Amino acid sequence: MYDPRAHILLKRILSDLPDKTGDDDFRLRLSAGFHGIYNRFETLYGQRPDLEQYLEDLVKILYQKYTERSRELKQRDRQREKEHDWFLSHRITGMMLYVDRFSDDLKGFIPKIKYLKEIGINLVHMMPLLEGPPEKNDGGYAVSNYRKTDPRYGTHDDFLQVIAELHKNGMYLMTDLVINHTSDEHPWALKAKQGDLVHQEYYHTFKDRTVPDLFERSLPEIFPESCPGNFTFSEEMDQWVMTVFHDYQWDLNYTNPRVLLEMIDILLHQANWGIDIFRLDAVAFVWKQLGTQSQNLPHAHLILQLYKLSAQIVAPGVALLAEAIVAPGEIVRYFGTSSVWSNECDMAYNATLMALLWDAMATHNARVLNAGIRSMPSKPKGTTWINYIRCHDDIGLGYSDENILAAGYSPQEHRRFIVNFLTGRFKGSFAQGLTFMFNPKNGDARISGSLASLAGLESAVEDGDRKQIELATRRIILLHAIMLSYGGIPMLYYGDELATLNDYTFFEDADRVDDNRWVHRPLIDWKKTEDRKKKGLPEYIVFNAIRKMIRVRCASEEWADYNNTKVIDANNEYLFSFIRRGKQASTMVIANFKDEAQSIDARWVASYNFDVHRLRDKYTKSNIIFYEGTFELEPYRFLWLTEAAN
Ligand code: GLC
Ligand code: GLC
Repeated sequence: MYDPRAHILLKRILSDLPDKTGDDDFRLRLSAGFHGIYNRFETLYGQRPDLEQYLEDLVKILYQKYTERSRELKQRDRQREKEHDWFLSHRITGMMLYVDRFSDDLKGFIPKIKYLKEIGINLVHMMPLLEGPPEKNDGGYAVSNYRKTDPRYGTHDDFLQVIAELHKNGMYLMTDLVINHTSDEHPWALKAKQGDLVHQEYYHTFKDRTVPDLFERSLPEIFPESCPGNFTFSEEMDQWVMTVFHDYQWDLNYTNPRVLLEMIDILLHQANWGIDIFRLDAVAFVWKQLGTQSQNLPHAHLILQLYKLSAQIVAPGVALLAEAIVAPGEIVRYFGTSSVWSNECDMAYNATLMALLWDAMATHNARVLNAGIRSMPSKPKGTTWINYIRCHDDIGLGYSDENILAAGYSPQEHRRFIVNFLTGRFKGSFAQGLTFMFNPKNGDARISGSLASLAGLESAVEDGDRKQIELATRRIILLHAIMLSYGGIPMLYYGDELATLNDYTFFEDADRVDDNRWVHRPLIDWKKTEDRKKKGLPEYIVFNAIRKMIRVRCASEEWADYNNTKVIDANNEYLFSFIRRGKQASTMVIANFKDEAQSIDARWVASYNFDVHRLRDKYTKSNIIFYEGTFELEPYRFLWLTEAAN
């Protein structure tokens, strides 16, 4: 919205800026975005007398980064402005991985592109590659230099070469921007430790426990077992510093506009490397306020909107993903407040679907899943989900108590049951996970474990039980089938394509033993990947199923995410079903979470305007024949029903 004060300021700033951009785009985009930037700055920092100076500094950063952006990337930005919904496409399928655990290093990654293409992956999320301490780095999420590739992975040129290779192969790259905290070895933290007041203000520092104690009254704990509390005493600084995650991850202080400017500079610096999508890490936490949980605060959203506005001006071809693993009603707010287009993050993790799928696996029914999905608020047009089943983090049961109640369970008992089931403590459970961060103060617990082990493959293999092995592989495929056909970008987790089991070697690693998320962060053994070619092995079955499913996805236009996913009531608590309506074709997805076959009623399918006389399953490519009006769906099987062309 037009604001005369912003207008006058912008005119002044622009008259002082040289114009060496050689095109109109920068000025046009800046004029479109500046009023939005101005009013957000005013809300966040309006009480400061130097507000306008910071705005001027921000514009200088934007200008500088625009002039540094390569001609090719500017060309790509313009192309994506035309195809502004590029990331809604059904043709994108991602995989997230740790470069060192997947391919040793960046050089080693290039020959593995072929393997990714074999599966059908064209978006790679590489977890943090930037310089961090050799230990105490939280798998890369404690960064000490945002402008330098960690030598463990290779040189910066190696990284640029990987980006070029991916793009040459028509693939996209996503990387993390850890915006909530830095490593305590980042130069800002080092200077703060040496007593530099300017840099102490980059963090939340306190002379004594008064304010920290007040904060602790309402702050939850992220790592209650390994890192209880939210503050760490720094001997060097002789002060307390806020550390919501690990004690070596110092929370950045966004009440200081200098911090925001530094981080926007870093975002754009990295955008100029050619990255397509940024995963903004731990976005829910960026703004802190006494007396609150300091998560999902309105000011956190303003900060993210400022990242977005800055990216739109300099690098509009870049998309932003919110990593907000929070309550369903909160997650959608990271798409921003505009109902027609995102003014915050373009994508968010569908953590709710992920957790609900595990609930369905544990209960063998879709009661909570159905209740939970239906109560999810809708998201704005032009935004999309990242759908996933597993990632490098733990599984938190973040759906709401109302959904559990609606399914007829009592929330506390039910959550305890799910944790017990998934960690194999429940009698008769097929799952083998580990309890992550049990908090005795409130009874909360989360779950670690690889997809295959949680789905029962580990115990089935141990028992040499062929029937259970078969069921476990079906469960793995079923979960992928949902992730691949539900609206959004599916993000596979490396190793899951080969049904990789838990890795218990972290127990012998002193730096990792306190963090059992390492149980599901496998080191890829490339000799083992050959098992994908050995008929009958779980690796073969799962790999080929996923590969085939991705092919079907790429050929299913109606699976692009135009908010056209509609969950329907299957009148059967064991089934989860949704329809993807498209202009040309539609797909009805039906998934059976029960270890027994379920009957699908032809009249029910017909009631959604599907011609039951010419139904085909897109996956098996076979026609669906109803016997006496019903079709039997085997345990843990799914259908991708569509009308066969005449
Ligand atoms: C993110 C990462 C997680 C890390 C945390 C702190 O949530 O996914 O692995 O521990 O942020 O950076
Ligand atoms: C919490 C946070 C999430 C983080 C995770 C670390 O769930 O919400 O951001 O990834 O802890 O395991």
